[in-house]
Amino acid sequence: MHIPPSLLTQLPALIAQGQQEASEAVIGARETAELNGSYEPNALIHGDNLAGLARLVASGACAKLIYLDPPFDSKADYRSRIHTRDDAGGEIALEMHTYTDRWAGGTADYLRMLVPRLVLARQLLAEDGAICVHLDWHSSHYVRVVLDEVFGREHFVNSLVWSYRTGGAARTSAVPRKHDNLLLYRKSDRFRITPLYERQYLDKPFMGSKVDAQGRHFVDTILRDVLEGAVTLVDSAADAPTGGGVHQVSVRPVLNLSAERTGYATQKPEGLLELLLRWMTHPGDLVVDPFGGSGTTAATAEQLGRRWMSLDASARSLVVTRSRLDALGAQYALLDAHPPQNTDSVVSPMVEYAWEDGEFQLQSVIPAEQLATALQPARGQSSDVTARMLEGTGLGSLAGWHLWSTAGERLGGAWRDARGVLVTRASIAQPVADSVTLELVDLTGKRTTVANIVR
Ligand SMILES: C[S@@+](CC[C@H](N)C(=O)[O-])C[C@H]1O[C@@H](n2cnc3c(N)ncnc32)[C@H](O)[C@@H]1O
Repeated sequence: MHIPPSLLTQLPALIAQGQQEASEAVIGARETAELNGSYEPNALIHGDNLAGLARLVASGACAKLIYLDPPFDSKADYRSRIHTRDDAGGEIALEMHTYTDRWAGGTADYLRMLVPRLVLARQLLAEDGAICVHLDWHSSHYVRVVLDEVFGREHFVNSLVWSYRTGGAARTSAVPRKHDNLLLYRKSDRFRITPLYERQYLDKPFMGSKVDAQGRHFVDTILRDVLEGAVTLVDSAADAPTGGGVHQVSVRPVLNLSAERTGYATQKPEGLLELLLRWMTHPGDLVVDPFGGSGTTAATAEQLGRRWMSLDASARSLVVTRSRLDALGAQYALLDAHPPQNTDSVVSPMVEYAWEDGEFQLQSVIPAEQLATALQPARGQSSDVTARMLEGTGLGSLAGWHLWSTAGERLGGAWRDARGVLVTRASIAQPVADSVTLELVDLTGKRTTVANIVR
């Protein structure tokens, strides 16, 4: 009988292999041209994050915090929910496979994927920086052993607990598993936390309690390593002892009715990232998220005045992240993890549009055939919704469109909103050159550019 080797005995070779793979990726990235300076200040990088991280290391970028929310070794596939409309305005809910977390060779294969990325993440960190790896019960114990090796056991800071009450719960096979582990390691002893304080209101005065403007008794206590629900955060650590202002930070999971829900699989709450960023970074610091997903880290960093870089291999991730960041008015570069082989735009006749009094109107597109198989009706939808999305003007197949000047300036356009509505007209205020480029992004994230959109 064949007994598979224990994972523990495989770890040393697995880590050595990961270090080798990381070095080779950086050597490969150094050989590509135009690396330096091209990523400042913010960047959204599409493609495998091994190549993306290697490019960042080769470019000399230096991160204060790297937050990773990778697949958890959960042996599952993840799907995103997408809303659109047919030509009559009827709502359509679709689903799309977004990423897989199944590993043919089990946890050893999972670690083979993760280790080189953790090695590159360490190389990308500033001396006073830290890494936070978001995992759960499936494999966090193995990854912690790997991190002990890669970062040094003495650089372990904490295993934060993010606790929630949603989703199914085991009844008899286990005490319900309802928390994730966020493994925190520092690059060196120069790393410092900014202490955060949470306000707790009391029914009556207690030792050292204070009274706020509404007459409520409160104490400000240091925020600890178990996060759940909502935190009443004191605005500045320096103000905590004297009772400064407060604001609510929700670390509740992103559910169907959450305002921040994008439909992207396994989206994390901005409040969780807010706490991490306030603990471990200052305004202007660079935050990198190699498994960016829906762009939670980038959106939070943008709102808190941190610089950010977000990487992801899924094209749908790019759509969701761009629409989130554009709504915040963020400025960023859109890059490929690998330099694209061919940068020529696709000149396609498959679009109808009109210009009227400085207003551009998108009238119809011919959707790509692959959409019919890439998108499926969401649970509870009739089987004809995919066809309805493609019919008529074909505009139901678009996630967004943008007009770009030849100088790379965005002149107008729109992303489909959370209710599935897409605005198809744009007033182009400033005078522009006669010819502009139209970027079309379909619901799966596939992009087409149509050059020479003549006014
Ligand atoms: C757990 S999700 C991240 C969710 C994210 N934190 C959020 O709040 O939306 C993991 C993401 O990693 C991406 N991913 C998995 N393997 C990758 C790889 N090798 N390179 C780049 N992205 C990858 C998936 O596409 C997925 O979006």
